Amino acid sequence: MDKKDNLMEKIISLCKRRGFIFQSSEIYGGLSNTWDYGPFGVELKNNVKSAWWKANVYERDDILGMDAAILMHPKVWQASGHVKNFYDLKSDCKSCKKRFKAQDLKDKNKCPECGGQLTESRPFNLMLETRYGPVEDEASLIYLRPETAQGMFVNFLNILDSRHPKLPFGLAQIGKAFRNEVTPGNFTFRTREFEQMEIEYFVQPGEADKKLEEWIDYRFNWYLNLGIKKENLRKRPHTKDELAHYAQACTDIEYNFPFGWSELEGVANRTDFDLKQHALACGKDLQYFDDATKERFYPYIIEPSGGVDRSVLAFLVDAYSEEKVKDDIRVVLKLQKDLAPTKVAVLPLLKNRPEIVNLAKKIGKDLKKSFITAYDDTAGIGKLYRRQDEVGTLYCVTVDVQSLEDKQVTVRDRDTMLQDRISIDSLKEYLFKKFY
Ligand code: GAP
Repeated sequence: MDKKDNLMEKIISLCKRRGFIFQSSEIYGGLSNTWDYGPFGVELKNNVKSAWWKANVYERDDILGMDAAILMHPKVWQASGHVKNFYDLKSDCKSCKKRFKAQDLKDKNKCPECGGQLTESRPFNLMLETRYGPVEDEASLIYLRPETAQGMFVNFLNILDSRHPKLPFGLAQIGKAFRNEVTPGNFTFRTREFEQMEIEYFVQPGEADKKLEEWIDYRFNWYLNLGIKKENLRKRPHTKDELAHYAQACTDIEYNFPFGWSELEGVANRTDFDLKQHALACGKDLQYFDDATKERFYPYIIEPSGGVDRSVLAFLVDAYSEEKVKDDIRVVLKLQKDLAPTKVAVLPLLKNRPEIVNLAKKIGKDLKKSFITAYDDTAGIGKLYRRQDEVGTLYCVTVDVQSLEDKQVTVRDRDTMLQDRISIDSLKEYLFKKFY
């Protein structure tokens, strides 16, 4: 096993051991490539989504939020081109019955697993189907959305009529998407159920190229601002033959995962393809009216589309560090402060001294009103620190015998392990200064 595989194994193991990510339905043998987020995982995931919403909706004047339904009218997916174009070419092995993506095969005839003969490659639509309503007929067949984007395009008119935004403006949405991937894998990197964070940014057609470049930079910097190391992030423009059926140009923001450079987010120029397609299919005028020039036209759309699960995985990989401390290895998740699931932990030095435990609990209860705070007294202090380091807790507040006398506590910094002695009265203020 090389160093990078080893890192992935360590992260998967940490995720299970500490309650970030579990195999779905594990007690039944697990549903392959499907994952559940545990107590720390859900906090990290929510923090990633909040950071995205803050940077793209709250800190800008030109983006409005949305939350469209997962289930949409089946005509949406005909108009969008997904019924016709959203497929992978796959080949099946006649011997071991495994299925492969044709583009991944070096030899188009020979199974890479067992050497058996492969079938001719055939298109395989990636949309997951389900039935809508109690009657199982052709009319009840609908799809689980393969991208959140369409929920924003079909509401374009509603947004114009209710909010009257002026170009350029965007819609932002976070939500689940589903794809019947031929080859899921690499932990949470490629799954059949996942979450997207998407922006559809409507612009004057002549401005599209410039806005595309601006968005690529804006989104790239978002990852850097949240702590991703610069050397692990890059931009990769798509070649023409890689472009999705709706895109004129696209640049991927890639992360250097242990399994290689892979896409975190795509920033695409979708042109006026989607609005025109929907206008044609539904018979409604989906053009934008420019008050100043009195022109009606279809805006172009710049789309930064990222994955929540992939971002969470990248933040975990990037934050994972091992440090030699004396004869031991200290595992620390050096998550940026906005992302860390727990901000503060209060730890009594001696769990068999009720006065210390009570004081620690009281301090913890008070801090909870301002910071996500944990309390733990189930082990010795060394072990308690290591546990908090492994889940990325930024500050550990230790209550000791001396605290009963001098009304002070020790605050330990996760990254430096340096300790400050702080009076209980000014603890909150001290922590506020660290966080804000
Ligand atoms: N609306 C455009 C769109 O969906 P995409 O490149 O197919 O574009 C956007 O997907 C993002 O969604 C990807 O960059 C990735 O982060 C995430 N994503 C796509 N498929 C995924 C999968 N099977 N598992 C996890 N994340 C996925």
